[in-house]
Amino acid sequence: MNTISDSIKYIGVDDLDIDLFESQYVVPEGMSYNSYLIDDEKIAVMDTADRRKGEEWKANLKSVLGDRQPDYLVVHHMEPDHSALIAWMMETYPGVQLVCSAQAVKMLSNFFEGVDFTGRVLTVKEGDTLALGKHELRFIGAAMIHWPEVIMTYDATDKVLFSADGFGKFGALVNDDPNDWACEARRYYFNICGKYGSQVQSVLKKTAALDIQTICPLHGPILKGEALAEAVRLYDIWSKYEPESEGILIAYASIHGGTAAAAERLGEILREKGAKKVVVSDLSREDMAEVIEDAFRYPKVVVAASSYDAGVFPVMHDFLYHLQIKNYQKRQFGIIENGSWAPTAGKVMRTMIEAMKDCEIIEPMVTIRSRMKSTDVPLLEQLADALLA
Ligand code: FEO
Repeated sequence: MNTISDSIKYIGVDDLDIDLFESQYVVPEGMSYNSYLIDDEKIAVMDTADRRKGEEWKANLKSVLGDRQPDYLVVHHMEPDHSALIAWMMETYPGVQLVCSAQAVKMLSNFFEGVDFTGRVLTVKEGDTLALGKHELRFIGAAMIHWPEVIMTYDATDKVLFSADGFGKFGALVNDDPNDWACEARRYYFNICGKYGSQVQSVLKKTAALDIQTICPLHGPILKGEALAEAVRLYDIWSKYEPESEGILIAYASIHGGTAAAAERLGEILREKGAKKVVVSDLSREDMAEVIEDAFRYPKVVVAASSYDAGVFPVMHDFLYHLQIKNYQKRQFGIIENGSWAPTAGKVMRTMIEAMKDCEIIEPMVTIRSRMKSTDVPLLEQLADALLA
């Protein structure tokens, strides 16, 4: 079991057999539900875990507690991957008091019908403190990272930030690659917290004033030193919706391969013209969350899609809808449409892109009729030139 400091212990669990996190994200490396215990004159448990791994989590807790009783359960986030064992804690440890935000209090009865929380909840808000003995916890409001009730906790004694879902990552700890935090942290951030960039900025400003040596998130590895600094640097870029690195994403939705061929050809032209990084993704077959991550990572996106039922092939609609709801902004788009008799995809994609904040469409839009022909190549060249200008 990990030790964060002399008195802070890791009691979280790995989940290696989950098929889809939140019933939508593939997690080939599993998932961790992190939880911590601060062992002081008063004992504080920092969140529970997902019920999928409830028995394992209880065993971890008991192995640290022994016969002792915890005094507090700090609930940073009410989403069930962290809060599932709250009722069990209340029942098993009659002296334990919940510590959470006022918004979280309102959610307790939603999740735990019939549990009596009367007199057992300490409601905290921004700036409130809780003395455990050697440790004094200070609470930081972190609404919408990633639910409205979220708080973070700063422990000034060990200089630890308990960051809730913030700085989280897909992947079980047993599979963690310490040299590649960003890849799965980025996919996690944009798909789970991406909509709330301004709220992340607000928390980053508050935490910048603190001396933080360790970040303990609810998912993924504990961050220290250079890894911590790099994570904060990336969070600042991501939450401002700035591109992280140069590159062009070409995302295509192709029924019989005609649109795919045009998308691949544009990729080749861009590379021939000197583009350093071009990523071509098949929206029908690749992980949508990964393509969304790449859309945020790079400054330019080309969407290429077949027309379908007088609209756009649905997987492209789904992609652009995902970008819209994640507050996608500040990017440039190119468009390739395909239509055998009445192309409609371009118009639908244009309308969806124009609804996104500060997104510009780079002309010309390219229209393919069924299969790309030699006569289509000059227009693809023109689009490539405009993308590289
Ligand atoms: Fe890890 Fe928003 O729950």
